[in-house]
Amino acid sequence: MSDKVIIFDTTLRDGEQCPGASMNLREKMEVARQLERLNVDVIEAGFPVISEGDFEAVQRIATEIRGPIIAGLARCVTKDIEAAAAAVKPAGERGRIHVFLATSKIHREHKLKKAHEEILRLAAEGTRLAKSHCRDVEFSPEDASRTEPEFLAQVVETVIAAGATTVNIPDTVGFAVPEQYGGLIRYLKDNVGNIDDAIISVHCHNDLGLAVANSLAAVQAGARQVEGTVNGIGERAGNAALEEVVMALKTRADFFGKLHSDVHTREILKTSRIVSRMSGLHVQRSKAIVGENAFAHSSGIHQDGMLKMRETYEIMDPVEVGWGGTELPLTKHSGRHAMAARLEHLGFKLSEAEIGAVFVRFKEIGDKKKFVYDDDLSALVDDSMMPQDEGWQLQKLEVSVATGQQPRASVVLSRDNESSEGNAEGNGAVDAAMRAIDAVVGRSGNLLEYNVQAVTQGHDALGEVTLKVDFGDGRLITGKGASTDVIEASARAYLNAINRTFIRRELGEQAAGV
Ligand code: KIV
Ligand code: ZN
Repeated sequence: MSDKVIIFDTTLRDGEQCPGASMNLREKMEVARQLERLNVDVIEAGFPVISEGDFEAVQRIATEIRGPIIAGLARCVTKDIEAAAAAVKPAGERGRIHVFLATSKIHREHKLKKAHEEILRLAAEGTRLAKSHCRDVEFSPEDASRTEPEFLAQVVETVIAAGATTVNIPDTVGFAVPEQYGGLIRYLKDNVGNIDDAIISVHCHNDLGLAVANSLAAVQAGARQVEGTVNGIGERAGNAALEEVVMALKTRADFFGKLHSDVHTREILKTSRIVSRMSGLHVQRSKAIVGENAFAHSSGIHQDGMLKMRETYEIMDPVEVGWGGTELPLTKHSGRHAMAARLEHLGFKLSEAEIGAVFVRFKEIGDKKKFVYDDDLSALVDDSMMPQDEGWQLQKLEVSVATGQQPRASVVLSRDNESSEGNAEGNGAVDAAMRAIDAVVGRSGNLLEYNVQAVTQGHDALGEVTLKVDFGDGRLITGKGASTDVIEASARAYLNAINRTFIRRELGEQAAGV
């Protein structure tokens, strides 16, 4: 058995299923390009059958991303498998179809209403159909960790016989505990006759906070593919955080022996930041490896120890995961070329029009702020990503707030070279700005989440607002905006959310969910 642990990234599929995380095509491409630089082995790019948007994203990623295998998810039904096959086709030999079917008693009896034999038949047929399109087929018995081990072994043997090259054992509801989950993998290795003809994969959810621990226990028991997401984003409590799995293997080589991944660990922090920006999901400060505090030492005793010898309180070198590479900040005097070069270095691949839009915002910010840091620039990309001709642009915002008076806002927005003005009162300055925008665009959003963060430090720091809005159809739409003024950042974020729904509807995308 090889010592290499295959890293399967499902940030763009399971990660994207996280409420409010949905990314548009442009954002998915940014993430996919960074995953390529991170050197993951497999990118699960989406679930092609669920929407035109998902299909297009998987197809674009399969066309443009070189290196990793590109997987598309499919239920065990013909239309799903055919959609996945068509979407991953441009990846050629690097295409993978990932078929799943629930196997646990509770899913069989209450969700699928199917007996054992029918599950075995469908699993075999689905795998064979996928195999007729693609050499590389992965099969997942959904809710495997709650499936009777004897029946699970039968399913695994059946799909390997039908051509599955990877068999994934999902802990779909995050129910497993490490010893038991490792034991299940060992059981399959001992009781499935053809187990050596496929790679055993694991896919753990974090409902009990055990996703990484379970994944590592499974690897010790013989699994050689780990599925997870960057920053651990995903359904409910999320998926196994890949950066934690990768760094556990690397840092505890004394324990895991030769087991290793091929991930370029110095790209980890950059990847975490890009995923956080593109998904609108903030990383908690104390998050392992990538949180702001992951390598911060505040107590005097720790600081003293660190100064004497770093290893007294640090088990990893922060540089190894991408911390510490401070670059000279840009200023208002920096030109378009310098800014474009820095954007490229940060991992963004933007068209000339998009660079132009970011540059306009860069100059505005440069007038207000002495230095424009990398994080500032990344924040500017978020609210400039919408090409000029695709949505509403904020031209002017005036807000008046005085004690004892109702806040008032006035905005001028432009679209298709036409400007319109809107005025409104609100409960507060942000509310007034949002209502004034509503008055122009003719829709009204219900603000469900609001978060403001200083991007860098200092009195002139850029404020980045991330908000989630429901425009009446029950979907949570994320909007992001940045400015040295938080009210303006809020207005930009709200407009960003409006533009995202507007463009989605034009593309005819539907709400998606498994
Ligand atoms: O959690 C799960 O079971 C899944 C499968 C589709 C692999 O995401
Ligand atoms: Zn999952």
